[in-house]
This record gives sequence, C-alpha cells and structure tokens, in this order.
Amino acid sequence: MADTRHLLGLLLGTENDWPSVFEALVRRLGPVTDGTGNVHSYDVERITVEPFDLRAEPPYDLVIDRLAYWYYHPREWLKKVALMDNVYLLNSPFTFQAMEKHAAYCAMMRLGLKVPDTVLVPYKNPLDHAKYAYTAERYNRSFDLDAVADKVGYPLFMKPYDGGAWRGVSRIRDADELHRAYDESGEMLMHLQASVEGYDVFARSLSIGAETMVMNFDPDQPMHGRYSVSHDFLSPATGAEVLSIGRVVNAFFRWEFNSCETLVRGTDVHPIDYANACPDVAITSLHYYFPWAMKALVKWSIFCTATGRAPRPYVDPGPWFAIADREDLSYDEKLAAYHSLADDYFETERYQDFCASRLSEFDEAALAYFQSPEFDEVLVTTVTTTFPVHEHEQFVAHFRGLLRLWCDDERVRLG
Ligand SMILES: Nc1ncnc2c1ncn2[C@@H]1O[C@H](COP(=O)(O)OP(=O)(O)OP(=O)(O)O)[C@@H](O)[C@H]1O
Ligand SMILES: [Mg+2]
Repeated sequence: MADTRHLLGLLLGTENDWPSVFEALVRRLGPVTDGTGNVHSYDVERITVEPFDLRAEPPYDLVIDRLAYWYYHPREWLKKVALMDNVYLLNSPFTFQAMEKHAAYCAMMRLGLKVPDTVLVPYKNPLDHAKYAYTAERYNRSFDLDAVADKVGYPLFMKPYDGGAWRGVSRIRDADELHRAYDESGEMLMHLQASVEGYDVFARSLSIGAETMVMNFDPDQPMHGRYSVSHDFLSPATGAEVLSIGRVVNAFFRWEFNSCETLVRGTDVHPIDYANACPDVAITSLHYYFPWAMKALVKWSIFCTATGRAPRPYVDPGPWFAIADREDLSYDEKLAAYHSLADDYFETERYQDFCASRLSEFDEAALAYFQSPEFDEVLVTTVTTTFPVHEHEQFVAHFRGLLRLWCDDERVRLG
C-alpha cells in the first residue's frame, strides 16, 4: 500500500472566502483510501506569481484557476504545466479561446441548441495597426447597420464577443439606441443578438466536474440577491433540459468549473451565456448554494487526483458534430445523445461511486464545518470586507440565516 501526497494549487485574484473554506474542508477530510488500498493525503497551497523556468517541475497535481482569464503571466504558466507537466487544470487555458462568447455560440448552434440569432459586426473604430487603413479601404465592405438590426429584430442585445461582467452590454429598443451603442462600442467587437423577450425564468447552472446545480437567477438584483433559494421552479422536463445543456457545454469545451445562463420561455430553453470558465463562487453571491459548491470542488479535485484521471486540455468536437449532423434525430434525441457523451467525459457513474465509497464521511465532516465557529469567522470577515459598515449587521444576519437553512436541509438529507 502506497501513501501518495498530493498538492492542490489555487491560482487566485482578490478572493479570500472560498479559498479559506476549500482549505478547511480538505484539512477536515483527511487522507483518502482509494479502491486499491492506496492512501492519498492532501495539502492546499495558494500559488504565487514569480519568474518560472520553463523546464522547472511544479509541485502541483491539480490547479484551480480564478486568475488567468485576465492575468497573462500565470496563464502562460498554466499552459506550461499543462503541456510539460501533466498538471490537472480547472480549467485549461487551451479552452480559453472559447471564453469568447463567440466560439461558444458557434459550437452550440452547430449542436442545435436554441441560441438566439446572433450577428457579429465589424469594429466601429479603426484598429490601431499600421496595415489597417489600407486593408479596410480595400476589403471592408460598407454595411447598413439598421438593416442588420432589422433582420435580428428589436429589441436586441448588443454585447462584446468576448464579454464578461456586463461590460458593454446594452438592450437596444430602436435605431437611435442602436447607433448610440455602436458609436460607443469603439474598439470592442460586438454581437447583435435577438432578445429572448418575456422569458419566464432565468435559470443559471453552476457545474463543478460531474455535478451541476440549477438555480433560479434574477440579473436585475444586486449581486447578493441574484440567486434565490427555490427548488421546484422548473417543470421536471425543463429542469432536466437545463441540466443537460450545462453538462453538454462543459463536456464539449472540457470546462470542469463553469456557469451557464439559460432563459426559459414556455417550454423552450435558450442558452445565452455559457463561456464563464472562471465562475464566481463567492459566499456573498452563492449563499445557500455555497456549501454545495465547495463540497463539489473538493470532491472533484480529490476524485481527479486519487484516481489519476488524465487531463484532457484539448477540445475534440468530432463525436459531438457526428450527432449534430444526423438528420434523423430530433432535438430531444440529440440532447440525450450529447448528455450521454457528457456522462462519459465526466465519468459520472464512477465519480458517484467514488464519492459514496471513498468519501463517505465527507458529508458529515462538511456539515460540521459549516456549523462551526471557524466557518462563521470566514463568513463574518467576508461580509465586513465586502459591504459598507452600516450594512454589516444586516448582512451578517442575512447570510448566517441562509447558511443555517442549508445546514438544516442537509441534516434532513443525511437523515
Ligand atoms: N439574448 C438575450 N435575451 C435576453 N436577455 C439577454 C440576452 N443577452 C443578454 N441578456 C441580458 O443581459 C445580461 C448580460 O448579458 P451576458 O450574460 O451575455 O453578458 P456578460 O457580460 O457575460 O454578463 P455576466 O458576466 O454578468 O454573465 C444577461 O444576464 C441577461 O440579463
Ligand atoms: Mg452573463
């Protein structure tokens, strides 16, 4: 029987809440014995940014990244450890190109998902490049923006092809707003996308490895109030479809930590934003769902490293397109076939079996942690560093209440 030590690395921006919780949960979990009797012990380390030798061997078995989407030095380090050192990454920077919404829209349209009609228009302002003026004069065709918008139909959304955090997103009702928004877009490359008007539910799913949580989302609320605690807000069939779409997006792009936004109107599910391979998992956003997310992140990290799951940093669209291109299959049949590919990718059954047999005491350990003063301290510190002083008391009580509700529900679930 071998004893293997694993080091899990966290690549972080400004957040301190979930990393502290992740570290505490891994500590409380203790060593894990796999099916062959080998024992796996875990340490967690926050990764620092410093010069790195391309041939140096990193100590990490797995890295969870929330930094490289904007900080390119650690992004290049991730590429190096993916290519040279076989480090397991959540997520691989080689799939980042699809974090442009554009590639993600194209791929899921090809799979037949109900992505609203979308047009990419050329830059409003000239590009700062010596060759631009000549090239544009010779090859840029003048186009009628109004005609493009009329074809998409009003109201529509104008948003950057590589967006995030609502930067440059606007809802356009008429030609005046269209021209104003396009003039302001400057050097941003913009999509015009048909609006899903009058949708019934905004369902946002967060996926971590083989687990997905579908949540009822309201984008008009401030961050702390966007997810509401509601359990049966979709019919079983629609709930299953939203879940499948999240899994399919993630397995297709090999994102193992991602969120997917869908608008549900009647019985139709329209995915509108699902290239978020660096999703927000703050306590103050997820509240009630935060313990689920942290547990899933720990379990998936342990599963991947203890079973030696091979990193697959590349996208392999072949099997997906083979299903997409079949004319004899309906939308529902294709979705079922994609879902099955997604289950293969995530090894869903094996993961569930691993959690049940190898991590059987983790649920109780995690529940004890979320009820402990240690966790309460993280919660209070997070609230007091996130909100202005006059809101501290109110928000500490608010989040404590939601976390207590999760603990009560979890106690019932565990019996
Ligand atoms: N086609 C659409 N139909 C209806 N609403 C839309 C559509 N596209 C975007 N929206 C609205 O605009 C919001 C922002 O758009 P989107 O999610 O694409 O941008 P983002 O910059 O990625 O935002 P975030 O980072 O907050 O997810 C959505 O949450 C939704 O409320
Ligand atoms: Mg969005």
